[in-house]
Amino acid sequence: MTTDLGAIRSGADVPVGSPLLEVENLIMRYQVKQGEVSAVEDVNFTLHKGEALGLVGESGCGKSSIALSLLRLQAENGEIVNGEVRLAGTNLVELSEEEMRRHRWNEMSMVFQGAMNTWNPVHRISDQIKEALDIHWPEQLSKADVRYRIAELFQTVGLNPDMMDRYPHEFSGGMRQRAVIAMALSCNPQIIIADEPTTALDVIVQDLILKELKRIQEELGMSIIYISHDLAVIAEVTDSMAVMYAGKIVEYGTTKTIFGGMRHPYAWLLLSSTPSITGPRRKLAPLEGEPPNLLDPPSGCRFNPRCPFATDRCHEEEPPLEDIGDGHLVACWNWEKVPVGVQAGDVL
Ligand SMILES: Nc1ncnc2c1ncn2[C@@H]1O[C@H](COP(=O)(O)OP(=O)(O)OP(=O)(O)O)[C@@H](O)[C@H]1O
Ligand SMILES: [Mg+2]
Repeated sequence: MTTDLGAIRSGADVPVGSPLLEVENLIMRYQVKQGEVSAVEDVNFTLHKGEALGLVGESGCGKSSIALSLLRLQAENGEIVNGEVRLAGTNLVELSEEEMRRHRWNEMSMVFQGAMNTWNPVHRISDQIKEALDIHWPEQLSKADVRYRIAELFQTVGLNPDMMDRYPHEFSGGMRQRAVIAMALSCNPQIIIADEPTTALDVIVQDLILKELKRIQEELGMSIIYISHDLAVIAEVTDSMAVMYAGKIVEYGTTKTIFGGMRHPYAWLLLSSTPSITGPRRKLAPLEGEPPNLLDPPSGCRFNPRCPFATDRCHEEEPPLEDIGDGHLVACWNWEKVPVGVQAGDVL
């Protein structure tokens, strides 16, 4: 059996380094009794073939909402009200549900947040992966082919194929998460969206799994969107990154450039409130206050109520995400006031 049978595989023709997934002016809102939750507000980014892109930000800033919107799997009360999600040139937002299903899993799949705890306890892991293959694999597979494929996936994610007929409770947390990754890889996608793939695991297992994901991504030539609230994770595994605040991207660029000097006050404060394990000891600056209620976000810049650099303009006018040089994008009227190479704990 070959493992490269294709459903829709237009992304496979995209050369390494070229745009594979282009997100343009994406707006997704949830309807609730009290009004509209502005969870994804005018988001733009590009994922290139072979690239690892990070989405980072505090809880509730819209990371999962973006991820789910890309696959059109947002909750029923969520609606994409504007924008395009172009996968190898095809705008997914415009497709019928039937057409969308042919892209989902075959071209772009997802490791859902908390998925390692959602295995059905009464079914064997192999049967649960088989179910995914039965639904999404483009051709009918024989029983032997399915078992071959699952064994191959187990090997890819560092699990012993002899374990495939075990039940979820016989797997450790790390093994359950590896099996989730195997499931996401099952149909050979071009893109994997990994939503907090290691958050529930201890740091040692977390590190092993991140390294494994990186190796798989490089070996299979995939692109990946890593979602994490943890800057250290994003620093370790991504080529480029977007810092989100309250439904918007506030800073975007290569990971190297951004860690070389964060210029959005939120990103700068987020870094300053993260302890460094390897670097010198330094004074942490707490990020004061709470993210805003997205039913009624602040006018102007959404970060203005918590921002030490805010001026009158920030209360009134929303700053656009602008290139401040070399493809480093920042949405702040006062980015030049944010000191480079100085931690917030040392100056605030
Ligand atoms: N189905 C829903 N209906 C209404 N509001 C929702 C729904 N799902 C999420 N939200 C709201 O949308 C906003 C973004 O949530 P989202 O889950 O995307 O954030 P997140 O960045 O993934 O957070 P976390 O780090 O906690 O996973 C939050 O204000 C959240 O309360
Ligand atoms: Mg989330």
